[in-house]
Amino acid sequence: MGTRAAFTQKDHGVSCLAVSNVSRAFGGLRAVDRVSFDIGRGELVGLIGPNGSGKTTLLNILSGHQPAEAGEVRLGDEAIQGLRPERIAARGLQRMFQLTRVFRRMSALDNLMTAGRALGLAQAGALARAGILLEELTLSRVSDLDAGQLSGGQQKLLEFGCCFMSPPKIALLDEPFAAVHPAMKETMARFIRAHHADGQTFLVVSHDMPVIVELCPRTICMNAGAVIADGPTRTVLNERSVIEAYLGGAGAA
Ligand SMILES: Nc1ncnc2c1ncn2[C@@H]1O[C@H](COP(=O)(O)OP(=O)(O)O)[C@@H](O)[C@H]1O
Ligand SMILES: [Mg+2]
Repeated sequence: MGTRAAFTQKDHGVSCLAVSNVSRAFGGLRAVDRVSFDIGRGELVGLIGPNGSGKTTLLNILSGHQPAEAGEVRLGDEAIQGLRPERIAARGLQRMFQLTRVFRRMSALDNLMTAGRALGLAQAGALARAGILLEELTLSRVSDLDAGQLSGGQQKLLEFGCCFMSPPKIALLDEPFAAVHPAMKETMARFIRAHHADGQTFLVVSHDMPVIVELCPRTICMNAGAVIADGPTRTVLNERSVIEAYLGGAGAA
């Protein structure tokens, strides 16, 4: 654990995602407040913070689903802020939504094929890739069922697969483990671990601290729109400001 805890962005020379001074307000509320961090290629980073701390809004800005008012987002050596979501996805930033988004009246396989086509894969390549992902995500047996007939957890796994039809430069996952059966949670964690070992870069939002500790060498914590801690996961979880942010949230509720 000791060596892994010291495994931070500095060990990953090449920047994958660089966020500088990104801000977004809703009326008087600063939902995202001058957020800056850099994720190196191949990193697996956790993003935590109490409800309402701005995690989803930040992901929406990164993926182009909401505009930032200020700041810059770079994917590799290219500035992407202000681009439309499809253009950002085509450049290799894929994201999963907190509220699952799949085509409910299309089969699981067709959902993957549609995602593959949107990413420019040819039919044969997409079919081969979909087969591998269905297997890896334990969805082979339900590949012909409409996505709407799958359990909530299976739909999440399917959306997960759609992000990986063409390996993205970075995958942003918004609470993928929330309300998912433990067996499927383990399938997802195994998938993340295996792809991270192959060099895939991830930013994973989760409230599930044991999973974050187990998966993510580095964690960023937000509170009230701002980054309040960023570093080795165990160090971040033990920081006073982080503990207070969570206690404050519970106290105010
Ligand atoms: N479209 C919106 N309009 C107004 N306020 C919003 C909107 N989206 C988010 N917020 C507010 O911004 C803050 C951050 O929300 P969010 O990014 O969803 O936090 P998290 O994902 O960390 O729970 C919250 O106070 C939330 O109520
Ligand atoms: Mg959220």
